[in-house]
Amino acid sequence: MSAAVLILETQENASHNLIIQRPPAGLSIQGRIKVPGDKSISHRALMLGAIAECETQIQGLLLGEDPRSTANCFRVLGAEISELNTEFVRVKGIGLGNFQEPFDVLNVGNSGTTIRLMLGLLASHPGRFFTVTGDDSLRSRPMSRVVKPLQQMAAEIWGRKGNSLAPLAIQGQALKPIHYHSPIASAQVKSCILLAGLNTEGQTTFTEPALSRDHSERMLRAFGAELSIDPETNSVTVTGNAKLYGQKVIVPGDISSAAFWLVAGAIVPGSDLVVENVGVNPTRTGVLEALSMMGADIELENQREVTGEPVADLRVCSSQLKSCTIAGDIIPRLIDEIPILAVAAAFAQGTTIIRDAAELRVKESDRITVMAQQLNQMGAKVTQLPDGMEITGGTPLMGAEVDSYTDHRIAMSLAIAALNASGTTTIHRAEAAAISYPNFTKTLVEVCR
Ligand code: S3P
Repeated sequence: MSAAVLILETQENASHNLIIQRPPAGLSIQGRIKVPGDKSISHRALMLGAIAECETQIQGLLLGEDPRSTANCFRVLGAEISELNTEFVRVKGIGLGNFQEPFDVLNVGNSGTTIRLMLGLLASHPGRFFTVTGDDSLRSRPMSRVVKPLQQMAAEIWGRKGNSLAPLAIQGQALKPIHYHSPIASAQVKSCILLAGLNTEGQTTFTEPALSRDHSERMLRAFGAELSIDPETNSVTVTGNAKLYGQKVIVPGDISSAAFWLVAGAIVPGSDLVVENVGVNPTRTGVLEALSMMGADIELENQREVTGEPVADLRVCSSQLKSCTIAGDIIPRLIDEIPILAVAAAFAQGTTIIRDAAELRVKESDRITVMAQQLNQMGAKVTQLPDGMEITGGTPLMGAEVDSYTDHRIAMSLAIAALNASGTTTIHRAEAAAISYPNFTKTLVEVCR
């Protein structure tokens, strides 16, 4: 029986309220848990599997709504993808450049990774026409960051607001290689350009101002693409007319999902929790470094490598957190964990400053505005900055009515804040968690003692 009272209320529009009632005597976070597969790696395994020759086998795939969107789109494009499950997914690739032209619009739902990566592949399919759209949030997110470099490669793409918003229409072309210097560190933009470069004669290079997650580079190499990487300049070059070969991919647990439990374990007194089998690729471990700066007690156990990605079990015990500054090159390595780090900061002594994270404003929601408003609703002291937040911790939080704004990471961050807030918290539109973490509420019940 869980110590916290959790209630899921279904609304008329099938939206859910998650009600979390913290018992007056408090609770602690205990146990050994696993988190679902890494979202970034799951997307890439499905996509590379679809454009490879032969068969790809995926173990540990995330069954969230975002990878489902990827699987559905690539099925429409001609790949044979077996029913999705965590045990074993088989992808029969169709080979690079062999997409069939869909009769209908490709729908990526809420998934920015699906649309941006897929655009690189669609744009480099000469003679075929594609249309792509997504949900309300997706249709308001900027696509010019991938449309512009693709246009430099001679891609033909149309959309609203100067071709920057989905729905987008793409007339596939034989592209030309470029060296693109991206103004932002973004794995989605990098991967889009590398994927476009795969089916383009010559060498395509992408340079970014700081290193973003490198799952595409690792997996492309494993599938047989020719890639050269210059770590000095954060540049990666792909050789075109590539041939990829299906592989076995074992997807590790998502550190972005583990981060919720790490913060829960750190802030709820008396906690001791192990999250097993978490991907600890150095381009993703900024959250561990930030929590360590804040004085969190987190140990990496059983470190190993699984199909080209570093993996470990993470043990967290509660401790009094202190403030820190999170800015600069670490930002791309923890960008998705900033909402939950803001929760950690609300329980830390002192004022935490988060800067250089303007990208948060164009995620699934404006995560700076939404996190500041929702945490303040619970009694926190959060001030918005144009590119981050200033959070003065130490004021006890109180249960309140809050809203996820249909952003999965906001929904889960607020649930963790509620575990350490007095009384009852109601999180509206909590169903958003299923985008990246289908069983989040079940695990929440399990770990609360
Ligand atoms: C992702 C890259 C990041 C991240 C997103 C997933 C990826 O986005 O925020 O959740 O899988 O490539 P940006 O590339 O826009 O920073």
